[in-house]
This record gives sequence, structure tokens and C-alpha cells, in this order.
Amino acid sequence: MNIAQVDYDGLIPNNVALGQDVRVKRALEKWHPGYINWWNDMGPEGFQESLVYLRTAVSVDPKGWAKFDYVRMPDYRWGVLLAPQQEGRKIPFGTHKGEDAWQEVPGEYRAMLRRLVVIQGDTEPASVEQQRHLGKTAPSLYDMRNLFQVNVEEGRHLWAMVYLLQKYFGTDGREEAEALLQRRSGDADTPRMLGAFNEKTPDWLSFFMFTFFTDRDGKMQLEALAQSGFDPLSRTCRFMLTEEAHHMFVGETGVTRVIQRTCEAMKEAGITDPNEIEKVRKLGVIDLPTIQKKANLHFSLTLDLFGNEISTNAANAFHAGLKGRYREHRLDDDHQLEGNTYPVLRLIDGKIQNEDSPALSALNMRLRDDYVADCNNGVARWNKVIEQLGIPFQIKLPHVAFHRHIGEFSRTNADVDGNILSPAEWTKRRTDFLPSAADKEFIESLMQPQFEPAKFAGWIAPPKVGIDNKPGDFEYVKIA
Ligand SMILES: [Fe+2]
Ligand SMILES: [Fe+2]
Repeated sequence: MNIAQVDYDGLIPNNVALGQDVRVKRALEKWHPGYINWWNDMGPEGFQESLVYLRTAVSVDPKGWAKFDYVRMPDYRWGVLLAPQQEGRKIPFGTHKGEDAWQEVPGEYRAMLRRLVVIQGDTEPASVEQQRHLGKTAPSLYDMRNLFQVNVEEGRHLWAMVYLLQKYFGTDGREEAEALLQRRSGDADTPRMLGAFNEKTPDWLSFFMFTFFTDRDGKMQLEALAQSGFDPLSRTCRFMLTEEAHHMFVGETGVTRVIQRTCEAMKEAGITDPNEIEKVRKLGVIDLPTIQKKANLHFSLTLDLFGNEISTNAANAFHAGLKGRYREHRLDDDHQLEGNTYPVLRLIDGKIQNEDSPALSALNMRLRDDYVADCNNGVARWNKVIEQLGIPFQIKLPHVAFHRHIGEFSRTNADVDGNILSPAEWTKRRTDFLPSAADKEFIESLMQPQFEPAKFAGWIAPPKVGIDNKPGDFEYVKIA
């Protein structure tokens, strides 16, 4: 069987020879109706009958794995797709470095591995739940289609993790797969596992910021898991990363188009000072300082997903060969890190300063550093657009100590530059840094749907090119 090709004959498209794996096939078929129920209850609200121009994976060949066509979302062919197995792959890091990669779960690491799969799995349906109301206020059919593409692919990522649970973790795997359909983002009794995935995504600027910042955390986690010595997890994550690239694209270009429209409108109106917020808002576009506040919010919430700076769990997962570093294979060291140190930003005697810590315990910090660098590349591209349009303003990521709820800095109040504020100062200045009720209200007032082909809401510029090279007037969603 050619692993690059996907078997589309059964209920569940796959490239894992599911037809010959009766036990797992049955388990997944049993899970399937619950998934469809979840999708109908918690997936995009109001558009389940509409025909959406979506890409579906038909191969895992990096060149051309997608086929585009109109699909009703509940009929989307969610499936189980793994990147091809690499002949003779070895465990690339940790204490088992150089041994053959595991094709079965190593018994001693079973619980740790299951936990990693469940945590990753839980984020996938969570983001669909968070984004479920956005279709109704889409600024164009192009954007609506991109939202739904992200949504069906997060659904497929859930399938990816559920396959691993069903195939490799027996009864507890089946229970975990069930529980992934039971938790709900933001629910008081059964919330999703991680904080940022229980926040609301109330408007489209939030959606673009979420896909820029929070899906990028997803990318970092998948990159780290793609290094795993447990080969099925590595292969699963490697294919997920090819889908994730589109989510980053949606976020980065989405914010770029908002910024572009704002700067263009300011130029047309002859406004040069970005801080003339009321004047800018009268033009029906989002002022740059408010875009900055949104970035501050989503960046800080996402940093919490990296967990504690110093973490025994992270050390154990690396030591065991289960979760590596960002692009481990490109790093030039012994990939074991036993005696090494890594500088960790900490709060010491009320001051934020670097402290050398054992590298193994500092792996969350290291992944977060790689994440911040990756974010900064995208922010620099946003700033190019502002600069080209001649507005004196730059978006800047806030200090990592700003507005944190997990880790070193959760005990303190820092401003966006990393200055420690007293609780009273923080309360007074909070809305200088984060969106105020009035900011939110203004953004919400702009969220009027624009469902005519070729048209865009006034607060966002059209994209440079269409999806699948379609022309500007292409009807990306046929609303039913
Ligand atoms: Fe995902
Ligand atoms: Fe994603």
C-alpha cells in the first residue's frame, strides 16, 4: 500500500490500513456518531447546511495533498492521516537516544504519553467551540470559508489524537476519547483542560489574534511532539503541522489586512496621529492602539499555555524521549542535556532577572522562548505594512511577565515593559494595556456580516490572492 495515498472507501478515510485493523476500526466507528453529535451541537452555528469550498486531505505527500471542493461541513471526510514512516528512525533525544523509535507504547511511560495525547487532543475541539458563533458576523465569504477550514481541520486533529488513544491505550484510551467529546470550552463544570481554551473568541479580530498567537502555540507543541520517540505520535504530528500552516496564515494575513485597512483609511482622511482614536474610529476601522491591546491580551493568554518555566513534567517527558524541543533535529548538542543549564527569566527579590537553571527543567521556558521569537517574526511583517503606509506606529509584543496567570509572573503585576506595578496601579492602568469594555463594544459594533461575493466589511482589506487561486468574486460559501 502506498502510504501517501488515502483510502477513502470506508466511513473513515485513512492511510493506516484501518480495514485490516478490525478492533480499532470498530472503536472509531463507535466513536463516530458521538463526534457528529458534538459537531452538530458545538460546531459552526447556523451554517451546517451551507456548501463550503474546503480542502480535504487526499494524500500525505507534502506536495499536493489537498483537493478543493464544495462540502457541507457535517459531510466533511475527517480521517486518520499519518506522515509516512521513516525507515530505521531512531529516538532522537533523551535517555533512550539512538535506540529504535517505539512502534508500541513503552509500558513504563504509558501514563505520561497518554496525558500528552489527551492534552493536545483537548485543545482541538475547544477552539472549534470558541469560534462557533463567528460565521454569523463574517466580514466576507472568503473569511468565512477560512474560518470553517480551520474548524474542520481542528476537528480532524481531534480524530488524529483519538486514533492514537483508541489504537494504543486500550480501555482508558477509549474513556479518554469519550471525555474529549464531553468537556466544553468555558463550561463551569466541565471546562476544557487549559485556560486559553476556555476564553471567548467574541469577534473577528480576536479570531485572527487567536489563530496567530494560540494556533502558533499549537504549532510549537506539535513540533516538540513530532520529535517523539513514540513513532505513531511523531508521524501524526508531522502531518498535522502541514495543516497548521494554514491556520497561521489565516491569523497573520487576517491581522495584516485589518492593519492595512486602518492605515489606508487614516491616509485617505489625512489623519497622521495613530492616537487620535475617536477620529480613526469614526472612519469605521479599528485604531492601531486597540489592535495593540488585542495583541497584548492574546499573547499573554497564550504564554500561559507553556506552563511553569521550571517543570519536572517537561524534564521527565524529554528524558523519556516522548517530547522534544522545537526542531530538535536542527540543534547541535548532545540531545540529552543532563549537565546543561539554560537561562530562565524569574522574579527574584522583586526583580525580573535571568537565572541559570538545569536545562532539563527549563524546557517549557525554552519552548516559550522559541515561540516568542516566532511571534516576533510575524509582528515584524505587520509593522512593515504600517511603515509602508507611512503611519508612525509599531506593534510590539508585551513583556513575558505582563498579565500572566501561570508560572513565575503570575504572582506579580507587570506592565507591558516589564515594570512591576502595585496592585492599585495595575487596576488603574489595566485598560491602558488590555481592551476595555468600551474597546470591546466598539469592535463588536463593526462586526456586521458581509455575505456578498467579492465584498468585504469596511474594517478589513481584501486578501492579495484567493484560496486555490480563485478570482475575487468567487462564492466561497453558498449559504443555505
Ligand atoms: Fe489543531
Ligand atoms: Fe490550528
